[in-house]
Amino acid sequence: MDVALVYNVKKEENSTAENDSQPSSLTQTTTHTQIQLATGADTYAEWDTIETIHTVRNALSLRHSVSLIEADNNAFENLKSSRPEIVFNIAEGRFGVSREAQIPAILDMLNIPYTGSDPLTLGICLDKSRAKEILSYYGIPTPKFVVVSSLSEIQSLNFSTPAMVKPLFEGSSKGIFNSSLVHTDAELKKQVQLVVEQYGEPALVEEFLPGREFTVAMLGNSDDLKVLPIVEIKFDSLPTGVNPIYSYEAKWIWDQSSNPLEIFDCPAKIDNSLQSEIAQICTKTYNLLRCKDWSRIDVRLDKNGRPNIIEINPLPGILPNPEDNSCFPKAARMAGISYEQMLNAVLDAACKRYELM
Ligand SMILES: Nc1ncnc2c1ncn2[C@@H]1O[C@H](COP(=O)(O)OP(=O)(O)OP(=O)(O)O)[C@@H](O)[C@H]1O
Ligand SMILES: [Mg+2]
Repeated sequence: MDVALVYNVKKEENSTAENDSQPSSLTQTTTHTQIQLATGADTYAEWDTIETIHTVRNALSLRHSVSLIEADNNAFENLKSSRPEIVFNIAEGRFGVSREAQIPAILDMLNIPYTGSDPLTLGICLDKSRAKEILSYYGIPTPKFVVVSSLSEIQSLNFSTPAMVKPLFEGSSKGIFNSSLVHTDAELKKQVQLVVEQYGEPALVEEFLPGREFTVAMLGNSDDLKVLPIVEIKFDSLPTGVNPIYSYEAKWIWDQSSNPLEIFDCPAKIDNSLQSEIAQICTKTYNLLRCKDWSRIDVRLDKNGRPNIIEINPLPGILPNPEDNSCFPKAARMAGISYEQMLNAVLDAACKRYELM
C-alpha cells in the first residue's frame, strides 16, 4: 500500500537543553530555577526524534511503500495533493488541547484513512479531566480530582492530601516533576502556580494513589483487541529519597540510554486475579473512550489495592531502542512481537477497520 507516515520531529534546541540537564541536581529539594530549566527542556518532549521517525518508516517499508509528511503548516496541502491510501499517524500536533486531533481532523476532512483514534477521542484523552469525567460516569475507578485555573480557585479539596498536581493536557511527563506530589497547602499553591504560569493551562489536582503502578499496551480493535503483557513501573529503581512517581526527571533525566534505570518489570509480577482485574478495566476504558488500533493506559492501585485509571495515551510513545525504556515496544517484545511487527499490526488493524484488506 501507499502509506504516508505523518509525524512531528523534535527540534535541535530541545536536544541541547536535555543534554545540558544535570541528572543529580533534581532531587526532592528541586528549586524553582531548576524546575524552569527542566520546563524549558520539556517543550518538545512529546515529539519524536528523527531516528524514531526513520525507524518507523523502515519498519512499515518492509511491507509498504512509505512517504514522510511532516505535521507542519503545509500538512493539509501535502496530504491533499499526495492522497496516500492510508496515513500512519504519530503526529502529536502543534498547539492547544486539540493538538493531537489536528492531523486526524484534516484526514477526516480529506476522507483519507489513518491509524489510531479519531479527533474526538484524541482530544478527550489529552484533556485528562474530560476523560476522567467519562470514566466516572461509567463507574470506572479514577482518582478524585479538581481542575483549577488560578490560585484563587483552590478551595478545600474533596479529598485529602497528598495530592498530585499536573498540567491538564500534557503528556510525556511534561510539567510532572518530583515536586508535583504535594503534602501541604503551600506546596499545592506553589505547584499550581508553576503549572498555570509555565504551561499556560489549568492544573489538574488529583488524589494521590499510593499503590503499585502499571501501564498497559492495548493493540487492535473489538474482538481482535489484545492486552499485551502488563508493565510495572518500579519506583525502587529511582534515586534514593525521591517520590514514587514516574516524573519528568525519572523519564528523561535519571534514565539515560547510556545508563538505563531498571524501571520496568514486564510481565509484571502480579497474581491472576489482579492481572484480570487490570486487563478488564483497561479493556472497558479502551472501548468506552472509543480508542482505535492501539493505546497505552496508565493504571495505579489505590490504598485498597484496587486498580484506577490514571490516563489514556491513544498515541503511545514508541522509542525503538530497548535501552530507551519505552513501554509499548517493551510490552510488544515481551509478547513476542518485534518493533516492526508491532507497527505493522497497528496498520493492519486500521486497514481492517476501513475494510482496506
Ligand atoms: N493521581 C495520581 N496518583 C499517583 N501517582 C500519580 C497520579 N497521577 C500521576 N501520577 C504519577 O505521575 C506520573 C505521570 O502522570 P501522567 O501519566 O498523568 O502524566 P503524563 O505526562 O500524561 O504521562 P505519559 O508520559 O504516560 O504521557 C504517573 O505515571 C504516576 O507515576
Ligand atoms: Mg502517563
